[in-house]
Amino acid sequence: MIQKYVFGTPFETDAVITPIPAAQGRPPFGMISLEEGFSFTYTMEKDDIIYGLGEANRGINKRGYCYISNCTDDPEHLEDKRSFYGAHNFLILSGQSDRTSQDAPRTFGLFIDYPGKLTFDIGYTRQDLLRIACDDPDLYLYVIDGPSPYDIVKQFRQIIGRSYIPPKFAFGYGQSRWGYKDQKDFRRVAEGYRKNHLPIDMLYMDIDYMDRYKDFTVSKERFDDFKAFVQEMKDQDIRLIPIIDAGIKIEPGDPVYEEGLQKGFFCQKEDGTPFVAAVWPGYTHFTDVLDPDARAWFGSNYRFLTDMGIEGFWNDMNEPAIFFTPEGVDEVKALMQRFIDNDDPNANWDAAQEEKVTVAQLQAALKGIGNRPEDYASFYHKVDGRLVRHDKVHNLYGYNMTRAAGEAFEKIAPNKRILLFSRSSYIGMHRYGGIWTGDNKSWWSHILLNLKMLPSLNMCGFLYIGADLGGFGADTTRDLLLRWLALGVFTPLMRNHAAIGTREQECYQFENLEDLRHILGVRYRLIPYLYSEYMKAALDGDLYFKPLAFVYPDDRMALQVEDQLMLGGEIMIAPVYTQNASGRYVYLPEEMMFIKFLPDGTIRQEVLEKGHHYVEIALNEVPLFIRKGACIPVAEAAEHVAAVDTEHLTLLGYEGASYVLYEDDGLCRDPKVQGSRRTLHR
Ligand code: GLC
Repeated sequence: MIQKYVFGTPFETDAVITPIPAAQGRPPFGMISLEEGFSFTYTMEKDDIIYGLGEANRGINKRGYCYISNCTDDPEHLEDKRSFYGAHNFLILSGQSDRTSQDAPRTFGLFIDYPGKLTFDIGYTRQDLLRIACDDPDLYLYVIDGPSPYDIVKQFRQIIGRSYIPPKFAFGYGQSRWGYKDQKDFRRVAEGYRKNHLPIDMLYMDIDYMDRYKDFTVSKERFDDFKAFVQEMKDQDIRLIPIIDAGIKIEPGDPVYEEGLQKGFFCQKEDGTPFVAAVWPGYTHFTDVLDPDARAWFGSNYRFLTDMGIEGFWNDMNEPAIFFTPEGVDEVKALMQRFIDNDDPNANWDAAQEEKVTVAQLQAALKGIGNRPEDYASFYHKVDGRLVRHDKVHNLYGYNMTRAAGEAFEKIAPNKRILLFSRSSYIGMHRYGGIWTGDNKSWWSHILLNLKMLPSLNMCGFLYIGADLGGFGADTTRDLLLRWLALGVFTPLMRNHAAIGTREQECYQFENLEDLRHILGVRYRLIPYLYSEYMKAALDGDLYFKPLAFVYPDDRMALQVEDQLMLGGEIMIAPVYTQNASGRYVYLPEEMMFIKFLPDGTIRQEVLEKGHHYVEIALNEVPLFIRKGACIPVAEAAEHVAAVDTEHLTLLGYEGASYVLYEDDGLCRDPKVQGSRRTLHR
């Protein structure tokens, strides 16, 4: 049962697409205050678990910290960070005991449809208090009642609409690096994969393919005939996937800039002039993607690349990220001037109290020049003829930039799926594209963070998801890459991406590359299963990744597990995420078949009893666990998705088990029409 409560005058985010009549009054439990903005306070029982929040820090159980929905470009994903790139305001309280004092269901879900900054204090200020708060009392609050967290998620997924479905090739492996700049670089990477028989389907093009980082351009010096080059790569069964950034470079004479300016499609300041922010190309304007006309215009520009044969994109910098604004620069300059005028480089903190500018202040001012709240509060969107200040709707920008592309693709390629994923997002964007989780690091702890975000993102509708495998920032190591890839084998988006200046981390850069070939090969062996489970999750509004607790709600031990996940209906995954480990402990909530894909191409199977086990997993092995009584289809390894032989599948798992395989052509936009489900028996 879903109740919708209306407070004030909410902004229409289009996150929910099923009409739900507004309930009268207030929710029968929790305390709502409209004194200062909006707040919802609820006293949690000692053992209540909180799920959800999508792309957020820390655990699968979100209890014990404070999270802030405020889409932020911050490449330091440290344990104390409260905001990442997305804003996913859906959570579920899963009660383990009857309520003692409150008139509340034991388990309930909350979706706070509010596009500005929203704080979730989940037992941070006081261990037993859940407090959700924001500045403006204008929002929709959805309260979902149901017998279990899993059931509540399914109800929520129904009202937010079907998740994005990518083309099947997007289930292949992709290589990316910020720093591939011209056709020579891409040829070299393609050759590195193909010559070494390392499977690959996609090469990602970062900002250097453009003409001076201008969206919807391709550098003529770096690509003499881009259309021919796209085809040259396709002839090797590799698709090129270019990046598109949010800001449009200010460059008089540039047709995209001129058109946007002339039609008034850019976000404006109070004085009516377009807002200026520096990103990769230097000063840019942000398209007002909340205005349907501007959104349609932005999306129509993708045609420039689809006309050249491009079939996929990644949308970036769309929080939107601001490196600095002219106003911010002026403030820093004024501070510097005062520092120079003081002529006292020895000034310390006390001096600051005497109005002298210190070196520390200068440092802080420079550090804080990007993504300043005052900049986000200084420009406007046009919505239904009125002006809305950006910070009030900040969390909708990446969503609507990606929606611009998604809506345009419906016109550009009405019958074809286009690969699309974004860095910033809000619930609602899950209908138009997937997500990658931004600038992580080559750290072991980030493998675990990657794993923990997966089910939470699924709960919020995002199914096509993945992290930068091998780590984006910092130098990777061979063992880290192998272990991370062994998790990436299971994530719908499987992409190795790294930052400029870091150690090269393409699979062929390391010794004994047969180990890397093997791990990538396992991904391709599993594609029939992974694709089938993805499609079922998308078409049936289900989860692809689940916490163990969703499947074994009565198992007290399973409720605690934060480093293993259920995938689809048949398997459990438990990747190794510590350095120098020869294996790991796993908890089996029931008897399962432990499967290891060994580097010689064989598969080792062993039935393990319910309970705790230490399992040996070498660096070049991929483990998974098949649930009791189940089986999964496995193909032979292939070097690209189209070469996976789906006719000759082996069933792996328990004797007598059967599996329902979903298949379609992997390209058609309405998969329901084309798709088939057939039962395979072992
Ligand atoms: C941002 C993106 C990263 C990309 C870089 C350059 O940091 O998150 O993936 O490589 O910009 O475009």
